[in-house]
Amino acid sequence: MYDKETLKTKKRYDRFAGFYDGMEVLVEKRLFKRLRKSTISKLAGNILEIGVGTGKNLPYYNSKAKVTGIDLSPKMLERAREKSRKLNLKIKLLEMDAQKLKFKDNTFDYVVGSFVLCSIPGPVKALKEIKRVVKPKGKIIFIEHVLSKHKLIALLEHLHNPITSRLFGFNMNRDTRKNILSSGIHIETDEQLAFFDVFRRFICKPESMHDKGVKDNG
Ligand SMILES: C[S@@+](CC[C@H](N)C(=O)[O-])C[C@H]1O[C@@H](n2cnc3c(N)ncnc32)[C@H](O)[C@@H]1O
Repeated sequence: MYDKETLKTKKRYDRFAGFYDGMEVLVEKRLFKRLRKSTISKLAGNILEIGVGTGKNLPYYNSKAKVTGIDLSPKMLERAREKSRKLNLKIKLLEMDAQKLKFKDNTFDYVVGSFVLCSIPGPVKALKEIKRVVKPKGKIIFIEHVLSKHKLIALLEHLHNPITSRLFGFNMNRDTRKNILSSGIHIETDEQLAFFDVFRRFICKPESMHDKGVKDNG
């Protein structure tokens, strides 16, 4: 059902699910919580969250958001279900591969993801699927850590990558901006959030300038 790399990622996150929230507790409190809240809390309509994980974004959706969360890992999803029950939320949580979404074209007003394009084995494949399922006037929003343009930081990211990818399933050195553009998605804003240029928020539209026959110099 899954290819080799996707299966490996699924197994890694299944193993990791019990520790995930605990491991990020400090950075969550100091930084991620604020980023999640400012990204998620104003969204309304039919929303797909990809790689919902343990459900860390769930507390920040407002009552006008009709949310479907998908993830590859059933163990991560178990944690998300627990959070959703405790918060009394009506959120659909489904096991699904972002690289093969089981939704019809033009279904969602928003597709969102946090710290997920670093984990998906085929990020461009997933981005093409995201582009397919978001409505033409919808938005695609990501908070991600990406490959830095600063040589020293980029070197550290390259050096640490074999450890983080093998142990925890995420890559520190992905050029996410390039991946978004290669999937044909148009980046409206690319905002620097924290730690020099590493943590970023991308707000995107599904229709790229290529679709309109305009040259993209981004
Ligand atoms: C680093 S965690 C981030 C979780 C959550 N978004 C957060 O902000 O804490 C990455 C998540 O992406 C999920 N994931 C990785 N590859 C995926 C895929 N192909 N389809 C769906 N989810 C995937 C993992 O199972 C994991 O839960």
